[in-house]
Amino acid sequence: MLTDLLLQKLERDAPLPKNRQLYLLLRELILDGTLRAGNRLPTTRELAKDLGLSRNTVMYAFEQLLAEGYVTARTGSGTYVADTRPEDSMRAEGSAKSAGGGPGVGRLSARGARLVGQAGALSVQWGAFVPGVPDVTAFPYRTWTRIQNKVWRRPGPQWLTYGQSGGHEPLRVALADYLKVARSVDCEPGQIVITHGIHQAIDLILCMLSDPGDTAWIEEPGYWGIRNLLNTSGLAVRAIPVDDEGLNPQPDDWNASPRLVFVTPSHQYPTGAVMSLARRRALLEMARQHDAWVVEDDYDSEFRYGGRPLASLQGLDTAGRVLYVGTFSKTVFPSMRMGYLVLPKPLVEPFRVALSELYRAGHQLEQAILADFIAEGHFVAHIRRMRLLYGERRERLLDGIRSELGEGRVLSHDSQAGLHLVLKLDGDDRAATEAARRAGLVVRPLSQYYQDAARARPGLLLGYAGVPEKEIMPALQKLIGAIGADR
Ligand SMILES: Cc1ncc(COP(=O)(O)O)c(C=O)c1O
Repeated sequence: MLTDLLLQKLERDAPLPKNRQLYLLLRELILDGTLRAGNRLPTTRELAKDLGLSRNTVMYAFEQLLAEGYVTARTGSGTYVADTRPEDSMRAEGSAKSAGGGPGVGRLSARGARLVGQAGALSVQWGAFVPGVPDVTAFPYRTWTRIQNKVWRRPGPQWLTYGQSGGHEPLRVALADYLKVARSVDCEPGQIVITHGIHQAIDLILCMLSDPGDTAWIEEPGYWGIRNLLNTSGLAVRAIPVDDEGLNPQPDDWNASPRLVFVTPSHQYPTGAVMSLARRRALLEMARQHDAWVVEDDYDSEFRYGGRPLASLQGLDTAGRVLYVGTFSKTVFPSMRMGYLVLPKPLVEPFRVALSELYRAGHQLEQAILADFIAEGHFVAHIRRMRLLYGERRERLLDGIRSELGEGRVLSHDSQAGLHLVLKLDGDDRAATEAARRAGLVVRPLSQYYQDAARARPGLLLGYAGVPEKEIMPALQKLIGAIGADR
């Protein structure tokens, strides 16, 4: 019977060598239970004869199975299928769970399965209209390479071993200067901890300042990536609606004292609203009264195309309640995975210890390159150049939307900032996203940004920063054709 099965499946003309085919077929029969633990395999001589293969071919397959532990050889008595399969009871439970949750989900923890179930990261990270991605092709890589070569000429051991937690000192000095001037952040270099992006900074904050079951507030709508991080950490996540003045909690909301409040005050993600001064002051005051921490996510506010630059919330805080997080993903490039955390002074030392304990610090060479890149003025110059470029692309997209779809189709409290805008829709934005994908365009449905589906408004996030100006109109027309939007 084994021979018949193998004869059926062996492909005489396939490019894969027969020894490899035989090994894979036997392995499959063992894994799917057709060959059970303890079953004796025919001898290599018998099998070679029955299958019409050379004995060497069969011996190769057996040796491979033996090396990987699928079979055992007992001297003088033959080759047997090894007992490597999980208990029957475990198998039954695993397959019952995976039936509902997709392949392999039954093996995950509850929070792991939830994280995977809610996952939102795109598999495509470049092209029209991927939101949240800068134009990486415009990065001054020659300047970067020059600094990199200089840094590599003198790499001390401290740059190649595990990093000192907190980050490369010259980078923290350069960053503190920049944040003070550009973002009105009130900080000393010692308050800065360099992280692998905002995601890691928030993971660290969750570990250090919350316990499972604590309440955390996020914005509604808000960045789904942070919502997933919070859910995964076992927090009770409350989504507080935003309006055109930013986060808008009602007095009763404070009764359930949140431990953490996550906000994007300079450029609410994704609606673009700017938090008003009155709301900022009220938030800081309530956070003080309720002993809550406010996490200010300042992910893209370098890119403001009209009006004056807005000061950070952190700069207004006199009670040490604000943790400010920022990223180089939009200003330099995302694959560098570098961001920063500006901490109230009493939190600095514990956070440094935790960073090192949890992740071990690294990327010192990149940090050294970046420090020089900032200190030599290239960082600010690059931001300035990109601001002009993105501003033009934004105008192009707005003009296109106006001419193709008419007035009033972009979310109205969208400030003149950021790397994306939100196109209002009437219908199902997830279906529109799927239709756009089939047409080769990447957009995100606004409804994905809501925790409470009942509150969700349909729309599409269109990232324009990475789309050359001349490609914007054709891509927009293609999008409109694909989703069937009309005037
Ligand atoms: C609001 C917000 N915060 C944080 C991030 C991610 O930052 P990082 O790449 O540093 O993890 C994003 C990414 O788009 C974002 O939109």
